[in-house]
This record gives sequence, structure tokens and C-alpha cells, in this order.
Amino acid sequence: MSPWPKPPEGSWTQHYPELGTEPVSYEDSISPEFYELERDAIFKRAWLNVGRVERLPRNGSYFTKELAVGSTSIIVVRDLDGTVRAFHNICRHRGNKLVWNDFPREKTSGTCRQFSCKYHGWRYSLGGECTFIQQESEFFGIDKNDYGLVPVHCDVWDGFIFVNLSREAPEQPLHEFLGPMITALEGYPFDKMTERWYYRAEINANWKLYMDAFQEFYHAPVLHYGQAPPAFSQPWREAGFYAPYYDIDGPHRLVSTAGIHPWTLSPDKHKPMEIITESGLQGPWATPDLGIEKMPPGVNPGGCDPWGLDSFQLFPNFTILIWTQGWYLTYHYWPTSYRSHLFEGTLYFVPAKNAKERVAHEMAAASFKEFGLQDGNTLEATQMMLESRAVDRFPMNDQEVLCRHLHQVVADWVAEYEHTKARTRR
Ligand code: FES
Ligand SMILES: [Fe+2]
Repeated sequence: MSPWPKPPEGSWTQHYPELGTEPVSYEDSISPEFYELERDAIFKRAWLNVGRVERLPRNGSYFTKELAVGSTSIIVVRDLDGTVRAFHNICRHRGNKLVWNDFPREKTSGTCRQFSCKYHGWRYSLGGECTFIQQESEFFGIDKNDYGLVPVHCDVWDGFIFVNLSREAPEQPLHEFLGPMITALEGYPFDKMTERWYYRAEINANWKLYMDAFQEFYHAPVLHYGQAPPAFSQPWREAGFYAPYYDIDGPHRLVSTAGIHPWTLSPDKHKPMEIITESGLQGPWATPDLGIEKMPPGVNPGGCDPWGLDSFQLFPNFTILIWTQGWYLTYHYWPTSYRSHLFEGTLYFVPAKNAKERVAHEMAAASFKEFGLQDGNTLEATQMMLESRAVDRFPMNDQEVLCRHLHQVVADWVAEYEHTKARTRR
């Protein structure tokens, strides 16, 4: 029996009748044609998070982001007035990639006063104006004002930088797109957690499969069984796992889990390194001073007690995961084809004040990588067999409600896009 209450009436899934309870198709994850539709219908219409403002610490700081799903690379820069802007990373002369280092396909970052093209030396201000054309007098009636960088819609919410690749004005402003469940996180001390650990991995599976792997946690006692000593894993596996709270708001989702306070467990339930470092998957056992009186209402909205974590899935491909112990993670899933994506996992801590804290952060980062590898490996196996199409309908239980929702929202966005396209063609 679960120690947690079910929602007032029925199951979580039955609270969202539009999702149904029928088995689900994964054709959306194995079809090249559907992927092409997703690129236009979702990734060129939705707001996409590309990082935090702390990556742009000074006026003139910039980073590039490779967005294969939008067939582009963008420059995100803090201009000389301090405004965060984004541009397509293309020179207006003959189309060279404007900002890159040794490898044209790799991202880069730095600080500069202007952008200068490596090919024929055209220059651009940080606000995107073309400021210099080599041998300008030899061009034919050229006006620099007509050759600024191509802007990308860009906005910042609570320190998170979002872009929108739509050519027209975005259908919704960023704040409205995020909606009340996400914006209720405003006031969480994201800005204090500036120690950053970053992983990326190329995963041979559709981007939605990895999102699904982090939208339900009841696979943990099975798939991640070996990650803890048997004294912990065995009873956990037998009891199963139940997340106490789910929520859905527009295209976005939340699952919360209950907290097991690691320091209260007997030593045989830990790996020796966890005892030595006082840290593990849940992060350092000690909570840092967050400098806030109380958490914003968006954190642990289900009032779970003890509370473990909130995992917010922001449509389409971004997750913010807040741990009870005063740190957070983000995940990004950047599609590169219908059967591959780039996964980025970033851990954020209040900067370590001593060696003990630093080691505890490293232990959390190493544990996270282990878990991520176990998930990533499984996804390739899943993709492979989904592509066999030997089975085309898959049952989902109540704790898979968020997986059901993601696939439904993706289908809705694609259908709406196709509908609008057909209407405008008429
Ligand atoms: S392509 Fe950039 S200056 Fe020629
Ligand atoms: Fe997992």
C-alpha cells in the first residue's frame, strides 16, 4: 500500500480525461516524417531555454548554441547596455558562420567588443549592426544598415534565457507561455547557485524517450537497482515506487517525489563513498544557506512531507529539477534526428566554501552521471526495438501520466500546425 494519498477522485490520469487511459503509440518517436513536422510545429514555435544569465557575466559576454533541430547556430550575447540578445550565427556577406573557434560545428563562448567574420572581415556590433565592410567602396550601392545580424526572439525569465526561432512574432510572450505553474517558481534562489557542473551525451534515441525516462520515477528501483547496496535496493524494489504528486499546466508538467533523508539510513544502505563524502544522488546531505525566508509557492506545490524533489518538464525539451537539499539540475534534450539527440545535464550548487563541500558536490555530480548513463543506455535499446514496429501500442500506468501527456501535447502541436498550414494554403 502506498503511504501517499491518491488525488481526491480517481487516479492522476483520470484527472485529465483528454489523455485517455488507452495504450499509446510511439510512432511519433520512430518516424522521420513526424520528426520533420516536429521541427517546424514545435521547435520553431515554442520558447526554448538555452541556458542561464550567469553564463553572460559581463557586457560583451557571449556563447553560441548549436540548434540542429532548427538547422542553425545562434549567438547569445549581453550587449554593451547589458541587454541579453540572440542572433543567427551567420555573416551577412557570404554566409560564413560568424562566431566559432577551432571546430565549426562546436559551440564556443567568450567576451568581446564586437563580432568579426573570419572570412573577409565584416564586423558587427554586439547589438547586431553591421559596422564594417572590407573594401566597402567596391560593392554596388551597399548600405551597412541593411546588413545587420538576423535577430532571434530572446527573453529572460528568472535568469533563464529563452529563444524562439519563429520568423514572425512568437504566438505567446514568454511569461504567458510558461504559465502559472512554472512562474510560481519566481523567487527560488537560482541566482545563488552559480557553481555549475555540465555533462552532455549523444544519445541514439528520439528526444521524447529520454524525457519519458525522467517523467516517471518508478523505473528507478528496477533499472537503477545496482546503484545502492542490496539492503536498500531489495526492499525498495519489492515495495515499488510511488510518486506522491503530479501536476499538468498547459503543455508543462510536474512530478514530485518524497524525500528519504539519507543521513537517517543505517550505514549498510549506503555505498562507502556516500558515507565518507556525505553526499550522493540526492546531493550533499547538508543544505547550504539559501538566504531566503521561505520557498516560493511553486516549490513543492503538493505539500509533500517529507519532500524530495520537484521535476518540472517545460515544453518542449527542458527540465528544471529542484532538490529538497538546496540545489537544482537542468536537463535539455536537443533533437538531432528522429532517432538521436544531444542530452545536456547541468548541476547547480551554491558555490562550495570549503573542500568538504566541494567534494560533496563532486560526489553528487558523479552519482548523477552514473544514473544518467544507465538511463541513456536503455533508451538506445528501446529505440532499436520500437523501430521494429513489431508492437505498435504500449500500455501506460497511472505513474506514466506525464509521458502520456508529453506525447499528447506533441501530437496536438503538430496537428494544429498542419491545420493552420492547410488553411493558409486554401
Ligand atoms: S562571409 Fe563573412 S565577411 Fe565574407
Ligand atoms: Fe532513470
